[in-house]
Amino acid sequence: MKRTKIKDILQTEQTGQQVNIKGWVRSFRNNQFIAVNDGSCMGNIQVVIELGADEALLKSITTGASVSVDGTVIPSLGKGQKVEIKADSVTILGECDPEQFPLQLKNRPSLEYLREIAHLRFRTNTFGAVFRVRHTLAYAVHKFYNDRGFVYLHTPIITASDAEGAGEMFRVSTLPTEDTPRNEDGSVNYKEDFFGRCTNLTVSGQLEAELGAMAFGEVYTFGPTFRAENSNTARHLAEFWMIEPEVAFNDIHDNMDLAEDFIRYVIGYTLEHNREDLEFLAQRLIDEEKQKPQAERSDTPLIEKLELVMNNKFERITYTDAINILLESPAYKKKKFKYDVSWGIDMQSEHERYLVEKHFKKPVIVTGYPKDIKAFYMRQNDDGKTVAAMDILVPGIGELVGGSQREERLDKLTQRMNEMHIPTEEMYWYLDTRRFGTVLHAGFGLGFERLVQFVTGMTNIRDVIPFPRTPKNAEF
Ligand code: 4AD
Ligand code: MG
Repeated sequence: MKRTKIKDILQTEQTGQQVNIKGWVRSFRNNQFIAVNDGSCMGNIQVVIELGADEALLKSITTGASVSVDGTVIPSLGKGQKVEIKADSVTILGECDPEQFPLQLKNRPSLEYLREIAHLRFRTNTFGAVFRVRHTLAYAVHKFYNDRGFVYLHTPIITASDAEGAGEMFRVSTLPTEDTPRNEDGSVNYKEDFFGRCTNLTVSGQLEAELGAMAFGEVYTFGPTFRAENSNTARHLAEFWMIEPEVAFNDIHDNMDLAEDFIRYVIGYTLEHNREDLEFLAQRLIDEEKQKPQAERSDTPLIEKLELVMNNKFERITYTDAINILLESPAYKKKKFKYDVSWGIDMQSEHERYLVEKHFKKPVIVTGYPKDIKAFYMRQNDDGKTVAAMDILVPGIGELVGGSQREERLDKLTQRMNEMHIPTEEMYWYLDTRRFGTVLHAGFGLGFERLVQFVTGMTNIRDVIPFPRTPKNAEF
């Protein structure tokens, strides 16, 4: 018999049908009721086996074992489900020794413990919900851009450039670590390396996306990016996924509109398609918040928070306004910030979160940052001090999006690159777009895991990517 997914049975609630289901045992009670989950949805199906079944079979129905069940869908007598399966036969596909299985679901395992057994954590309700939501968000990203005629461009993962100019790159090399070929001055001779030059994993696909935008008009990338920054926080990964749209003829205002529409759309799509998962995650968050001191609790439940974001315009302020708000805040006056505030600082997470969580209580787009704290490619404003940058800050996360209008004027761009010691000869291909039919254009990068965090309410970024890469950790 062809396998039916548990989701379909629970959705249609059509009784009388003969089905085969396959999945993993979540629990087994009274030698009679098996809760089986196949990952197609949050819910388990209850399988009822006849009393007096074979002893050996009963013994091998343990949490974690995989089973195949043939039976009939019948109205359930028990509470909690409308239908269940009356089993004709139960076959154990793969046994699971309860003495050795590290995932015992009875007493809720902590997220920290589950991180250590990340190869098994997909089998919990929480991670099932998180990764189904992650999938839907990824699909919604592609749907949003496809529906608007953007070309999905696969930008390289191995590159010789540092798009952000921050020097936080992982080197890619096949040179031997012993007897490394060296130049006369002792430096490593990368001419001998695989690519004949020094290469690294990309920190961003933006520069190549800009090349595409100069032909297709509207492109986006959605791929892995890598940063060797030694930040052990709940919002940083060394390997994360980023979505980077780049649009010719867009200025900074169009860029903000696009980013806002985009965020609203993917949240709305997920609210529509993963209701059950989000409701579970909302409840999980309420339980988690109860463990926190009152002052740190967020007062808006997850789904209401998402609906608020969907239905309200984001606040738009300049960096200068933001600094003034911070300087006038009770938090600043009472010296509650760890880091000082003054015009010119790169705002710390505590500052960003104050703005969105305490002051505006909604997402905020900050524009016009000082040029000295931003990348070389951002368009310089007429004041000579600021650039047409935009960061989107959201409650609970801080920076979700970073973007800008790009410097399309060759002379200004070259000058800025020289000031910032970005090699202009090597980057001739980037500068060529400014030589051959340059146009104003803009784009941004949205950190996909931070989006998943925002939508699922998961506090730690390590819990929204299947196998997180962080300093001193590359298990699995
Ligand atoms: O602000 P960032 O560094 O901007 C860029 O990379 C631009 N090239 C984007 C563009 O204009 N096309 O990074 C963009 C976003 C951040 O706002 C954040 O959400 C996420 O990427 N991000 C990280 N997410 C997880 N771990 C990290 N270490 C991250 N660094 C940045
Ligand atoms: Mg940024």
